[in-house]
Amino acid sequence: MTTQSDILAIGGGIIGLSVAIELKLRGANVTVCSRSFQEAATHAAAGMLAPQAEAIAHRALFDFCLQSRSLYPEWIAKLENLTGLSAGYWPCGILAPVYEGGIGDRDAGLDPNDAEPPAYWLDRDAIQLHQPGLGPEVVGGWWYPEDGQVDSRALAQVLLGAARELGIDLREGVTVEAIAQDRGRVSAVYTNIGPLRADRYVLTAGAWSNALLPIPVSPTKGQMLSVRVPQAEAAQHLPLQRVLFGPQTYIVPRRNGKVVIGATSEDAAFTPGNTPEGIHTLLSRAIRLYPALKDWAIEELWWGFRPATPDELPLIGPSRCENLTLATGHYRNGVLLAPATARAIADYLCDDRRDPLLDAFDPRRFDLPSTPPSPAMTSALTYPSPRSPRPERETAETLLHRLDDPVAIAGKTFRSRLMTGSGKYRTVEEMQRSIAASRCEIVTVAVRRVQNNAPGHEGLAEAIDWQKIWMLPNTAGCQTAEEAIRVARLGREMAKILGQEDNNFVKLEVIADPKYLLPDPIGTLKAAEQLVKEGFAVLPYINADPILAKHLEEVGCATVMPLGSPIGSGQGIETAANIRIIVENAKIPVVVDAGIGVPSEAAQAMELGADFVLINSAIALAKNPPAMACAMANAVEAGRLAYLSGRIPVQGGASASSPLTGRVGQ
Ligand code: GLY
Repeated sequence: MTTQSDILAIGGGIIGLSVAIELKLRGANVTVCSRSFQEAATHAAAGMLAPQAEAIAHRALFDFCLQSRSLYPEWIAKLENLTGLSAGYWPCGILAPVYEGGIGDRDAGLDPNDAEPPAYWLDRDAIQLHQPGLGPEVVGGWWYPEDGQVDSRALAQVLLGAARELGIDLREGVTVEAIAQDRGRVSAVYTNIGPLRADRYVLTAGAWSNALLPIPVSPTKGQMLSVRVPQAEAAQHLPLQRVLFGPQTYIVPRRNGKVVIGATSEDAAFTPGNTPEGIHTLLSRAIRLYPALKDWAIEELWWGFRPATPDELPLIGPSRCENLTLATGHYRNGVLLAPATARAIADYLCDDRRDPLLDAFDPRRFDLPSTPPSPAMTSALTYPSPRSPRPERETAETLLHRLDDPVAIAGKTFRSRLMTGSGKYRTVEEMQRSIAASRCEIVTVAVRRVQNNAPGHEGLAEAIDWQKIWMLPNTAGCQTAEEAIRVARLGREMAKILGQEDNNFVKLEVIADPKYLLPDPIGTLKAAEQLVKEGFAVLPYINADPILAKHLEEVGCATVMPLGSPIGSGQGIETAANIRIIVENAKIPVVVDAGIGVPSEAAQAMELGADFVLINSAIALAKNPPAMACAMANAVEAGRLAYLSGRIPVQGGASASSPLTGRVGQ
């Protein structure tokens, strides 16, 4: 499905919508896709426009925030004119009270006296005059008259209204599953409604960006609540007329009597919900700062996820993909930075202009190969060979980078191409250390054995960190299609219980042959058809049969998993010729599963063009499993790099290594 658009914004929060509007105003055709416009972090934000109160220490970020704050009045007026709606913009100033000993806190960032915009110190008496009712422990505070606020939920509505008014193609209910790449370009965005295509793409998915690209954006949870000024009081005069930005808490009064209190800052992944501790902490800090609110009615509790980056700077600008631009990772300042980000992205995409201020936010600062090249490799990579340029080939650097490219299975992306198992280990600890050493991201678990607490499987499921590892439940032990279907459903429940709500993967094993443990092709195809209908991502374990592999692909399997030789046999890749045919014909990932005994065989599978290998026995039963796991991980990378590099053809006769006529220096 094409979008008929020049540009597709992936993510419909404040950044996605602001960018789309700016691009549209400059003449581009734009589509925005979003899971739910209401669920973006924008709705959780307090809406403070607070570069000064936030005491941003990084010079470029501070300047960018100031720039954005100064764009606000005109930007809001433009949006409100387009829609006739109010965004609740209120340049009310922010007061930052401090307690005894806390004055130095505000010096931690840029010195407010040095900053160009004004900042005034108010002593105990002056601050109480300016804002009556502050807690008795307040000894003074900074007044930032140019900071302010906007009602973030109202702003989200205004942005949506403006986008509609301008004819932007808004697609709601769209879950993006993967960003497909081909030779350094995005070729499509895979979604629950099918692939979407455009000329260029902007990733504006906030805290969820990392699910689509290997960029270091992670969620920092913030819990919040609101209280309401009693009606009688509000009718006369709002007791709070400016934002209070106190130590570890802020109180944001809206003009309609609602008062927003925020926010915790938690490293809690995407754990939803408000907690008693979170709300208790917020309330006690807010009451200490402004005691009168202890009697006001609590109106609402909520939470959101800030998109944090390791250096707390956003990712704005080009990516490794030529036609993909990033505008994400705005951490605590998404609402504030929306107009400046929109302008910067539009300048870049429409006019090829880039403010040098944005250099600090260049997303490519995090682009590193996962395996740093050795010094010898580095010198080989950088050795100039002007006499024999090979522009038509990929450079060694790009190939090394491609080792790091994500690879998708059913829309979920992974970087490691080694999958491991969880059975046969001597101890749970050895399993944990081996999984870590293998650097794998997918571990398969035998649903039946875990559920029955079979020997060696007691407590196994709990022993793996499912926040980091994607579970691949398998149907080992099932002899018929019916059994496998039942166990697959149990596996889905098991993944849910262990925190992987959206995990619909199943490694399908239908094995009736007790001696060689060879999979039953007919039962496997039958079970696969049914499981695909039930919404599973099916990864079927099969003999290396190219025709069966094609049938399984046609019924909608997510991968095929041909065996190298019988399970646990360590006989290596006996089926190389057929695996080569499967790889050649498959449009889905090929996982070589079973039979690998040593790293050279793992490398061989990858050299054949397999997308992944799955190894269990060869690691678990090695004398030193963690060390073997590490060796396998290295072999998988070596094999992959060799595949990308292009092997020499096999020849009948010899070809001298030191020919009389060579290429170098010719
Ligand atoms: N901008 C305030 C916060 O992220 O809590």
